Formats: sequence, structure tokens, C-alpha cells
Amino acid sequence: MKRYKDIAGDGGSNIVGQVEAQQARLRQRLGGVRAIVAIMSGKGGVGKSSLTANLACCLALDGWRVGVLDADLNGPSIAKLLGIRGARLAVGEAGVAPPATGLGVKVMSMDLLLSSDASPLTWDAPTQEESHTWRGAMEANALREFLADTDWGELDALLVDLPPGTDRLTTLASLVPGLAGTVVVTIPSDVSHLVVKKSITVAGQTKAPILGLVENMSGLFSGPDAAGLAREFAIPFLGSVPFDRALAAAGDRGEAFVATHPESASVVALRSIAAKIRDALRSR
Ligand SMILES: Nc1ncnc2c1ncn2[C@@H]1O[C@H](COP(=O)(O)OP(=O)(O)O)[C@@H](O)[C@H]1O
Ligand SMILES: [Mg+2]
Repeated sequence: MKRYKDIAGDGGSNIVGQVEAQQARLRQRLGGVRAIVAIMSGKGGVGKSSLTANLACCLALDGWRVGVLDADLNGPSIAKLLGIRGARLAVGEAGVAPPATGLGVKVMSMDLLLSSDASPLTWDAPTQEESHTWRGAMEANALREFLADTDWGELDALLVDLPPGTDRLTTLASLVPGLAGTVVVTIPSDVSHLVVKKSITVAGQTKAPILGLVENMSGLFSGPDAAGLAREFAIPFLGSVPFDRALAAAGDRGEAFVATHPESASVVALRSIAAKIRDALRSR
């Protein structure tokens, strides 16, 4: 029986060459993307995905070319929130073309690669040969392929909706050569603040600047002060988005709430936060 040590080099798999080729493709793919911004929180259910979707719409309304990468591979929700669940992906020479919403927000999500809720993770490609079956739980690998195989074209900003957990940002930062910044999300509760403090610490350890802290669902609980938390860590406070049932319902319908309800308090807050993010990205 042959052992690993008996195999010369990489056994002919050219694994190093494959990884290098993929990294070169990744750099080329992201060459047209001016700023990659990660939306993160150590805490789940604080509204990261809703904020990502709504902020992307705000930036699009401001005339920016925007993309959203749903990095929550196992719990993708961006396609649903942006109303393009079930859109077909065009696989061409240049890679996978991300579908765009009515406002022009380009979206890539694991959700779009699944033909049914229960099927395995496969590219929906015209031929068997082009189809790529996703196996195993190598999340970082999946994310790298996601980034390297999507044809984003020219974008002013690519927002990345991270799954909960502090380690996810480190993975993304290691894949993306120049992460432009992170936005940290909390809700007004002691438990959320406790977890989010760890997220801020992790975000501070990556090279990317923390663009700021957003408080979501304000008014829902009488929790601790998010502006105070931002001050404690000397990071910008971007604003508070009120708890708004209509915003949640619009997300469930896949409706661009910021476009359909420009007068609502939550939309006014979101547009102000988006403006601060634009300013921070411009002054880099
Ligand atoms: N400001 C808000 N007001 C009301 N409901 C909200 C708000 N933000 C998010 N939600 C709702 O909270 C739930 C969790 O949000 P989601 O964006 O999926 O969180 P996460 O991505 O952090 O897990 C969703 O049902 C969403 O519609
Ligand atoms: Mg989410």
C-alpha cells in the first residue's frame, strides 16, 4: 500500500497551481470592485441581512453600483430579502453573472445555486461538465470560489453579509486582498452588547477599518446605549434603525422598502447611515 510519504510532490494534482490560479482569478474578478464592506455581528438575528439588503438599496438609490454577496452559505436570506429568489444564473465564459434587482443591486447567494430547498449545492449550469458540485463543509473554500467565479463587473461597493460569529470576518479578510471596512451591528440588549464587544475587538484586529457601529431595532427593548458602546471602543456611531414591523414585512415580501416607503423613520435612518458609509469609503 502506498503511503502519503511515498507519493512524489503533490501526486500530480497540481494543487498549488490550482490554488494560485484561483487566487489570480479572484484578484482579477475583484479588480472592478472599488470597495468591499463586511456587515458583521457576533450575534445572530440582529438584522445583519436586513440591514445589508436595505443599505444596498439605499446606495443604489444614491446612484452607486452595488453588489451583495451573501456569505451566509448555510442560511442564505439575501435573495429572499431582495426579491430575486429563484432567479436563474447565467453561466458564461466570464463566470457566473449575478442577477440584479429592480434597483440594479447585483446579488450572489448560495440560495441562487440551489434549484430546490432540499437539493445539494450545485451550479445550475447548461452541461454536466460545467456543473460544479459543492461538497463538504469547507466554508472558506466555498467563499473563495464564490468570490472568484462571480462576474461582478464594475461596482462602487460590494456588501458582504456575514453569518453570525466572530471568526467569519477573519476568513473573509484572509480571502479579500483589500477589505475596505466593516460595519458592526447590534441591538439594544445587554446580551447583544456583550457579544458585539467581542466582534468589535476581532474587527479591530483585521487591517480593514471599522466604518462604524449600527444599532438596529431601536425602541424594541430599553437596552444599553449603542452610541456609548461606540464611544467606549472609539469607533464611529453610524445611527439607530428603529424597530419597524412594516420593514420586516417588506423584507418577507422581497420588497425594496427604502424605495417604497421613503418617508418612514426607519428609511430616513437607513439613508443617513448609507450616506455616512459613502463618506467613509470616499475619504479612504
Ligand atoms: N429594524 C427592524 N425592525 C423590525 N424587524 C426587523 C428589523 N431588522 C430586522 N428585522 C427582522 O428581524 C429578523 C432577523 O433579521 P435578519 O436580517 O435575518 O438578522 P440576521 O441576518 O442578523 O440573522 C427578520 O425577521 C427581520 O425581518
Ligand atoms: Mg442573516
